[in-house]
Amino acid sequence: MKKNSKLLLVTGGCGFIGSNFIRKVLLSDEYSVINLDNLTYAGNVNNLSSLQGNKSYEFIRGDIGDNELVKSVLGRYQPQAIINFAAESHVDRSINAPQIFIDTNIIGTFNLLEMARHYWDDLPESMKESFLFLHVSTDEVYGSLADNELPFKESNKYFPNSPYAASKASSDHFVRAFNATYGLPTITTNCSNNYGPYQFPEKLIPLIINNALNGNTLPIYGDGLQVRDWLYVGDHVDAISIILKKGKTGDVYNIGGSNEITNIDLVSMVCNVLDALKPLSNSKSYFEQVKFVSDRPGHDRRYAIDASKIKDDFGWQPGETIETGINKTVKWYLDNTAWLDEIISGDYKAWVKSQYN
Ligand code: NAD
Ligand code: DAU
Repeated sequence: MKKNSKLLLVTGGCGFIGSNFIRKVLLSDEYSVINLDNLTYAGNVNNLSSLQGNKSYEFIRGDIGDNELVKSVLGRYQPQAIINFAAESHVDRSINAPQIFIDTNIIGTFNLLEMARHYWDDLPESMKESFLFLHVSTDEVYGSLADNELPFKESNKYFPNSPYAASKASSDHFVRAFNATYGLPTITTNCSNNYGPYQFPEKLIPLIINNALNGNTLPIYGDGLQVRDWLYVGDHVDAISIILKKGKTGDVYNIGGSNEITNIDLVSMVCNVLDALKPLSNSKSYFEQVKFVSDRPGHDRRYAIDASKIKDDFGWQPGETIETGINKTVKWYLDNTAWLDEIISGDYKAWVKSQYN
């Protein structure tokens, strides 16, 4: 690890957002990173292959629920902050098999908090003050908005509807409780739907790109009029970096792109970009592959984030519009077919078969 850099313990760093975060913070000499990830189906060491040989980076394969391991990692490396990305993150999987969401998102996060509390208690006063436990959470904890309701603010009531959202809500409550009860310096961020490079192709945008390129149907749940507020992953990790530096402990920050769009319009946008960059030989649009399928049980109708707190307090603004972000994302998947091919050759096939029959 580089001397004089600030050491971060990042959990879940081999996943989509965590790997984007690690690559970005290691662009400067300011930070070193220990990445603790147990490599579930969603974790991929290839997401960070560009860091091979980087002296500011170390990977440890392990579970945030393993208290002996977490304790020894904290004791050995003495990080100045923990950034908790580790989670089961896919709503459909939480509907099919919720137990692992309880194990990782609730018990795992609790364990990480408990180990962090003991570690923090024993730190010298000088380090104690600057320590931070930053918990990365989701807008899904707030539930579903009606068309005429205002976007979620940090003060909105929790109303989780899926087992995934309930497990994240529970972890958020523990983070809050550890701050209020023990004084552990914590911050929680609640972000809207992310998209961009390295997203596992079970999530809507990479699933559509992958299916389109392989001549498969593009499954749209229900009527396709559900609304999400999309944020390019690079903008999310920038927001986390700012909060890491400037965030007020004990606080919550909502992060979102103010890019509300229905699923069907989003899929149409992705297909238009594919049509332009990789036209089908028969001159048809990829959009013709769309197929409406059974709806997701308990499907939240609309999410939207009011990000005025992070904007007003720290001047954060998303750099990408939905158009520029989707363009970049489609290009990335077209340029990285080897990455995609490796994923879809494994257990992925079994998931697609069971989910989409
Ligand atoms: P992801 O599924 O792509 O990655 C999760 C990572 O966590 C994987 O590398 C996995 O191996 C690791 N992991 C899982 N269980 C673990 C455990 N017990 N111990 C250690 N590592 C474990 O998820 P993502 O999309 O990158 O999301 C990261 C975080 O951001 C999650 O907490 C998620 O709830 C939150 N979030 C995601 C989005 C989104 O749109 N993807 C939006 C808002 C918030
Ligand atoms: O809002 C933040 C959340 O966004 C994160 O906390 C989650 O980790 C992340 O997975 C994401 O959850 P969603 O359920 O909103 O994302 P997903 O990509 O699974 O679905 C986006 C929308 O597209 C949703 O309304 C369901 C719909 N959909 C999804 C799939 C996979 C389809 O219509 N067809 C599909 O095949």
